Amino acid sequence: MDIKWDESLRTGVAKIDEQHMGIIERINALINLPENEKETEVDKVLRFLGGYVIEHFQTEENIMIKYKYPDYDSHKAEHMSFLKNYSQLKRLFEKEGATELIIQATQNQAVDWIINHIKKIDKKMAAFLKDKIA
Ligand SMILES: [Fe+2]
Ligand SMILES: [Fe+2]
Repeated sequence: MDIKWDESLRTGVAKIDEQHMGIIERINALINLPENEKETEVDKVLRFLGGYVIEHFQTEENIMIKYKYPDYDSHKAEHMSFLKNYSQLKRLFEKEGATELIIQATQNQAVDWIINHIKKIDKKMAAFLKDKIA
């Protein structure tokens, strides 16, 4: 199942939207790997995704600090809980390899994050920022 970027995910903050698109692209790359490439490619995709997501969260957190966003603490807590789940997944992958379980769990986590985080938490932040960012 592909995750698609659509207008309902747009926050209106260009840099954040760009990063969300990049993340969704990599998640799709992971989901769509052919069976015989999973073993070698999942590691690369997970590593890239991990780095990219951390960078993305920092981008959002820096913007929130800069513009004194009142819900900064709870938004940051959501990012941290995502990263905790992600590193558990990564450890499991390092131990067991590219099992179907890991692919599935990564996908589920990604879908959950997109639906719940971008649509609610990021969009709420973006609504606050909209007229503050030129
Ligand atoms: Fe966020
Ligand atoms: Fe985000």
